Amino acid sequence: MFEEIRKNNIYKIFLDGRWIESENNIKIYSPIDNQFLGSIPAMVEKNVLDAIDSCEKSLISWKSICLFDRCEILLSSANKLFEYREEIANILAKEISKDYKSSLSEVIRSVDLIKETVAEAKRINGEVLFGDRMSSQTKNKLSIVSRESIGIILAISPFNYPINLSVSKIAPALIMGNTVLFKPATQGSISALHLIRALELGGLPKGIINTITGRGSVIGSIISKSKKIGMVNFTGSTSIGESLSKSFGMIPMTMELGGKDAAIVLSDADLEDAADNIVQGAFSYSGQRCTAIKRVLVMKDIAEKLKKIIREKVSKLTVGNPFDNCMITPLINNESADFVEKLINDAVEKGAVKYTTGERNKNLIYPTVLENVSLDMDVAFEEPFGPVLPIIEVESIQDAIDINNKSIYGLQSSIFGKNIDEIFNIAEKLECGTVNINGKSERGPDNFPFLGIKSSGIGVQGIRYSLESSSRIKSIVLNKK
Ligand code: NAP
Ligand code: G3P
Repeated sequence: MFEEIRKNNIYKIFLDGRWIESENNIKIYSPIDNQFLGSIPAMVEKNVLDAIDSCEKSLISWKSICLFDRCEILLSSANKLFEYREEIANILAKEISKDYKSSLSEVIRSVDLIKETVAEAKRINGEVLFGDRMSSQTKNKLSIVSRESIGIILAISPFNYPINLSVSKIAPALIMGNTVLFKPATQGSISALHLIRALELGGLPKGIINTITGRGSVIGSIISKSKKIGMVNFTGSTSIGESLSKSFGMIPMTMELGGKDAAIVLSDADLEDAADNIVQGAFSYSGQRCTAIKRVLVMKDIAEKLKKIIREKVSKLTVGNPFDNCMITPLINNESADFVEKLINDAVEKGAVKYTTGERNKNLIYPTVLENVSLDMDVAFEEPFGPVLPIIEVESIQDAIDINNKSIYGLQSSIFGKNIDEIFNIAEKLECGTVNINGKSERGPDNFPFLGIKSSGIGVQGIRYSLESSSRIKSIVLNKK
């Protein structure tokens, strides 16, 4: 089934419904053991312009198909994705070093996401508004409000969820009648091309999705010169998000960017439960999640107890190969490991106490807890995207709120405690998109709104919200005589 998309282990470009060979390629190696996995197309300007043309040509026919039929096609694609889930999960685990079990659930979660996006699209079809709601308005006017496609949506996904964070952009865009120019992360492109093949096998009409692979730094400037892109839907780092928003100018954008999610642990918290959530939240997929818990703000009177429980739990984390379902696996590349190590060293030099279960081996960093962290350490505010958890002790709830808010990011926060009134008062003061009460920070369930404020993002994701942001409202006003 996947033979079509590669020749001699060189992957092809999906252009206008056909898989075509590329003249230039990039070699992809597994972060696990440096095994060669295949080459992906390094597309040049002509390829990119052809892909944009294909999206443009296909737009008219795709958006004129009725919603029900677009939904049926997406459901059929979801079924194909489910059929090939194990093959795709296997590639994903190798390509981004994610444990096999999580890789498989990522694919299955994406199938569910498509199905629920289809169901929700049928619910948000439109509405009729009457003009006599306001005293100054006439009752002779009514507005038929419908949703229409935006045009070509540029979907750019990051390395850490090559299937799910691609599907969460592609599915709402296509269902709402847009066409998609799809740029996966370079490390993640092999998984993403398999995804597109599975969707294609479900019966996608030609041209409604075209793949753009190659280094983002090269591709980005080519695409931004085109004035044909209707919207950008990006997940990735804040720095790239900022540069995209400058280069694409005044078009709608949805961006999921970096985070520095805090877990605030109050004096009356169930420490066992809080520590469970914190360790899972901080270390799953080796901390390479935007929603990972990236700092603990704990009340001083319970800090010693909490640190002890966290250390015990961290000592039991499994470290090694994704195919042994280890939680801590090699990071995506050596540069990421260098960055994490630098943050750890800076903290230790400034007085932090380090607890780790092993020493770095190439791009594998053992889970590390940093205690006695102070605000002058880089790790207090930087996003490591690795398996390191800084613990900051606070004197008061107000200190916790201030430190939480003293961040350029505002993705999520967690509060652990028992006094629900107190928790709500804190939650209202935290500057972030979502506050989790007695639970770790996380994006799902996928029908919940997911958003970051400040440097963590623009716009809202989540099934209904993504459908809304992937479409624009059209109001047709009827003047009754
Ligand atoms: P990244 O380096 O920003 O890359 C993200 C995507 O942007 C990749 O597809 C990348 O392609 C592409 N890209 C890079 N430069 C570009 C340019 N000039 N023009 C167009 N596209 C460009 O991020 P990452 O390393 O994949 O992911 C880690 C970061 O993403 C972290 O900061 C994390 O917090 C954030 N993230 C946030 C969320 C969220 O939901 N808030 C989710 C996941 C990740 P190449 O791979 O070819 O460079
Ligand atoms: O980093 C990806 C981000 O969207 C997190 O998703 O499901 O791991 O919370 P999740």
